[in-house]
Amino acid sequence: MVPPPIPDVAVPAEEVLVQLEELAVAVATEAGRLIVGERPVELAVATTKSSSTDVVTEMDQRSQDLLHRRLSAARPDDAFLGEEEGGRLGSSGVTWVVDPIDGTVNYLYDIPAYAVSVAAVVGDPSVVGGWTPVAGCVVNPVSGEVFHARRGGGARRRRGRLARTSARVSSAGDPGMALVGTGFGYVAAKRAWQASVLASVLPRVRDVRRMGSAALDLCHVADGTLDGYYEHGLNAWDMAAGWLVVTEAGGVVTGPGGGAPSSGLVLAAGAGLHSGLAALVDDAVSAAGDPPDPS
Ligand code: IPD
Ligand code: CA
Repeated sequence: MVPPPIPDVAVPAEEVLVQLEELAVAVATEAGRLIVGERPVELAVATTKSSSTDVVTEMDQRSQDLLHRRLSAARPDDAFLGEEEGGRLGSSGVTWVVDPIDGTVNYLYDIPAYAVSVAAVVGDPSVVGGWTPVAGCVVNPVSGEVFHARRGGGARRRRGRLARTSARVSSAGDPGMALVGTGFGYVAAKRAWQASVLASVLPRVRDVRRMGSAALDLCHVADGTLDGYYEHGLNAWDMAAGWLVVTEAGGVVTGPGGGAPSSGLVLAAGAGLHSGLAALVDDAVSAAGDPPDPS
């Protein structure tokens, strides 16, 4: 499988990429400490977004505010795009795309599978195929897992107190033997469609996992914990850092028709599995029919 073309945007020099990666690790780690250390005993839902189950807690906003403050102080000319309210335009060509808590429902229920995801991207993250991540970090603050990467620099993983090692995707090739992650959106009609896609995928793979954080799912493809992952309906902040971690770990991440990852599809796997899994998901989508209108 040929990876999707890289958009025609200027990539920062290696020494800048090193700084961006270090900054991503530092701020994601600090935000991770915040959401665990200052989690209220009675954590309440502050507001909801696309549906009544698409929740925002006070800690989502506090985590994003912290990331915004730290990144603006360190790199005032960069733009900022986060899942919660409060973005900023910039002039440097770099945009920080952050998910202050990826896996908010897990966080709400205190299930220890959520993450802070921080990526530096170039290009316009609102244009499909017009941007690419160049440095990033995903932290699970409960397990201590830290995944990070910079373009051309490889992907690294630290697990709890264990030393940092290189992350490598699995060498699986047969979709029928693959352990595949996926996820679902928050809107009922979309979930029903995703369930019918899943009904076709599930009998044709080893098994499926739905862990509840797209950023961690992607990183688990990067380190071979999952053989592959697909999801329809992700936003740039869910995928940006994990996308880079997978590609720097030797994997392939594509979107619809093998193009750039987008809300239409994010499909990640090792090079030996990717095209087989993509064909299987395509068949499942054809069988399920058109997805519901997002509006
Ligand atoms: C969600 C998680 C989940 C995925 C959803 C995302 P959030 O992000 O990544 O695993 O299935 O599509 O929206 O809302 O917890 O930040
Ligand atoms: Ca998210």
